[in-house]
Amino acid sequence: MKRANSPTRLTITQPDDWHVHVRDGEMLEAVAGYTARQFGRAIIMPNLAEPITTVAAAKNYRDRILAAVPKNSIHADFTPLMTCYLTDTIAAGEVERGFKSGVFTACKLYPANATTNSSHGVTDIENISDVLEVMQGLGMPLLVHGEVTDAAIDIFDREAVFIERVMKKIIADFPALKIVFEHITTKDAVDFVLASSANIAATITPHHLVYNRTAIFKGGINPHLYCLPIAKREVHRLALRAAATSGSPKFFLGTDSAPHAVTAKQSACGCAGVFNAPYAIESYAQTFAQENALDKLEGFASMFGPRFYGLAKNKRKIVLERRDVAVPKSIDIVDTHIVPFHAGETLKWKFCGALD
Ligand code: DOR
Ligand code: ZN
Repeated sequence: MKRANSPTRLTITQPDDWHVHVRDGEMLEAVAGYTARQFGRAIIMPNLAEPITTVAAAKNYRDRILAAVPKNSIHADFTPLMTCYLTDTIAAGEVERGFKSGVFTACKLYPANATTNSSHGVTDIENISDVLEVMQGLGMPLLVHGEVTDAAIDIFDREAVFIERVMKKIIADFPALKIVFEHITTKDAVDFVLASSANIAATITPHHLVYNRTAIFKGGINPHLYCLPIAKREVHRLALRAAATSGSPKFFLGTDSAPHAVTAKQSACGCAGVFNAPYAIESYAQTFAQENALDKLEGFASMFGPRFYGLAKNKRKIVLERRDVAVPKSIDIVDTHIVPFHAGETLKWKFCGALD
C-alpha cells in the first residue's frame, strides 16, 4: 500500500556486498558485472573448486575478477575484497602476509563439508587456533559459515547448534577477534549477535528476508530457493527482517549470491545457492519499503559494513526509484541459463545507477 509520506526516489551512498560468490571462468565472466554495477566493493568468497588458500592465488583471482568486470562507467571503481579459505593446515604466516600486504581482507571459516566446495574446510577449530590468535592481533575479520556438520543434527537446527558448540567457544578463546556471522537465518543468531560485544556482527541475505522454509515446498519442490543455511520457520524470517531494518550497526548487507547452472539446481541432487546478484539492491529496497524502513536502508547497505571492516564508506551515491521492475524468468549464461531470485516477479523498486 502506498503511504502518503513514503518516498518515490531514494539517493543513498553506494552499497557494498559483504558476501558474494562470483565463481571463475565463463561463469565469472557472466556474473561479475551484476555485482559491480550496484556495489562499490564486494567480499569475494574463496570456495572455488580449488579453494583460495594462498596470497598468490588470491591475487590471481582478484585479477581475473577485475578483468571480468565490464569496462564502462557504471562498473568503474569496483573493488573485489579477497578472502582466505581456512583449512586445517593453513599457515598463520600466509594469512598474516596476505593481510599485511592488502591482499586478504578477511578469512573464511567453512566447517568441513558444510556446503558447496567446503571439503577442504576446517574439521576442528582447535586446528586453526594459531591462525585465530594472529587474526585477533591483526584486527582481521573471521567470516563464519555457522552450521554444524554433525549428521545427527537436523538441518533446520544446524545454525542454532553451531552457536552453542562452536561460536561460543571461539568467542571465549578469542574475545577480541572480529567475527562476521555470515548469512544468518535464525532468531537464535539475531539474539546471539545482539547480546555479543561490538566485534561480533552478521550479514543478512535478501532471500532470507523474503521467504521461509514453507515456500521451498509450496506447490512442489522449488530448487531455486534451496541454499545453505536453509531458510527456517516464519518466526525466524520475521526476526531477520526486524534486525535488518532496526538500524543496529551489527547487521549489514551480504547477498550470498551463489550462481549455479540450471542443470545443477534442477537435478536429483541439486546444488545449494540463490543467484540474487542481478536484482539484489532492488530486493532489499522492497523489503525495507514493506517494513516502512527505507530510512534504514543506507545504514544497512552502505554504512555498517565499512564501519565494521574499518574502511571508509563509498564516495559515490546511487539512486533507487519506486518503479516496477520485471525480473526475467531466466538469464542466459554461457551455454546454459540461471534462474535468478524473484524470477518472473515484479519488484517495486528500481536501481537507476550511480551519480557521479
Ligand atoms: O547456498 C549456498 N551456496 N551456501 C553456501 O554456503 C555456499 C554457496 C555456494 O557456493 O554455492
Ligand atoms: Zn556464501
